[in-house]
Amino acid sequence: ENKQQVQQRLLDWFIRTDRQLPWRKTYDPYHVWISEIMLQQTQMERGIDYFNRWLLRFPDVHAVAAADEHEILKNWEGLGYYARARNLHAAAKIISWEYSGIIPCDPGELQGLPGIGPYTAAAVSSIACNTDIPVVDANVLRVYARIFDIDGQVKSGATRKKIEQLAREMLPKGRARQFNQALMDFGGLVCLPRNPDCSKCPIAFGCLAWQRGTVADRPVTTST
Ligand code: ADE
Repeated sequence: ENKQQVQQRLLDWFIRTDRQLPWRKTYDPYHVWISEIMLQQTQMERGIDYFNRWLLRFPDVHAVAAADEHEILKNWEGLGYYARARNLHAAAKIISWEYSGIIPCDPGELQGLPGIGPYTAAAVSSIACNTDIPVVDANVLRVYARIFDIDGQVKSGATRKKIEQLAREMLPKGRARQFNQALMDFGGLVCLPRNPDCSKCPIAFGCLAWQRGTVADRPVTTST
């Protein structure tokens, strides 16, 4: 079946690419959480730098909780969006003091913490705990808009809902950690916004936009 082949080839591609990112060594939930907050506002390369320095200074969630705000902000310097750092600090205190330092796996519980919205909750829950929940960021939106040749504006609520539904259907049970990261990496490295090289794409056969020649027009972002 097409769906299973696309799933399998994305997972194979992910394992073959084997991108070494520091938070992928142990999938420690604290590492995953910090990386997701940092990557929301910075490019991968800079994000890796900041992540490594952060971990040297704050090796665990208790170290974040115990720090002064001014130390937190000093280590965030250059990343911008300082509200994120303040929220991270507030969340660390809750996790350290009320959750015995254990970052929850439940997406609903995660969303109750400062600075964690639906995207971050899904990312942390699926990547750290392998929970069966899809992660839909800008890269994933683009990949699905092409695979299913979605002709609606990706910024519209209806199109987003449609893609989120497709993402739930496409998620292979028990493989969320790998599959969600496969999609994010695939969007960032292969299924590029402009001039993607579809001749090298392992899932071109299952891509409706490729079959119909609409890859350059997906996702639809123009305002009309
Ligand atoms: N962007 C945000 N989170 C990511 C992750 N876990 N892997 C790759 N790219 C990402």
